[in-house]
Amino acid sequence: MQQINQNMFEDIIFEIEKSHGCNITKSEVVIYLEALERNIKYIKKRLDQNHIYNFIEHGERIFQPTLELSIAAGCPHNEALFNAYAARIHDIGKNLVSRYILNKYTPLIDNEREELRKHVFYGTNFVFTFPELSKIVKHHHEWYNGKGYPDKLKNETIPLGSRIIAITECWDAMTFKRHYSIPKSTDEAKKELKDYAGIQFDPKIVELLRIRAEYPASTEDESLNSLFRSNS
Ligand SMILES: [Fe+2]
Repeated sequence: MQQINQNMFEDIIFEIEKSHGCNITKSEVVIYLEALERNIKYIKKRLDQNHIYNFIEHGERIFQPTLELSIAAGCPHNEALFNAYAARIHDIGKNLVSRYILNKYTPLIDNEREELRKHVFYGTNFVFTFPELSKIVKHHHEWYNGKGYPDKLKNETIPLGSRIIAITECWDAMTFKRHYSIPKSTDEAKKELKDYAGIQFDPKIVELLRIRAEYPASTEDESLNSLFRSNS
């Protein structure tokens, strides 16, 4: 997992304390994060590592971009952190989907597609003790136009974290090189995000990415800005 730097961690603690008053202490925040980390490690230990599509590494890769994009979108640091953790485990429910379906190269038939879609509920169940995360995991396949699943949520009724993960995870799925598929170029992936802005993706977040790609802010934004950097 990419590391949260110390300053950011302090900021997160500060934000959580501010929004929760005296109810949450620094040590409780640490306990919360450690519990979450343990939970994720426990789940990962039980996972079948032989899936061709490695949804664990896919989640790890989008932790940092999701964290940074959340902050860029104006989330307080504590919310940004929850979004990033949710990104890490968003597809963890795929562990309960049959390998035949996950590894199938040809298009899925209806009942297979239904089974695959259940991964959002399986994932929600994995992290039910962390309600901040389970809600985001459950809705990461909703579409901005209301045509996604599981609840056909629309526009801003979709949790912001889920809207952000929809973009970061799609970017990773499009551009990451796998031995069984040819990745899209950066330009092709950018076009895909743009074409589906307002349909699948929140157009404001797609636009935010475009602006930041044009005007990179600082070296701290490296991993986010790399989303739009040329591959060549
Ligand atoms: Fe998913």
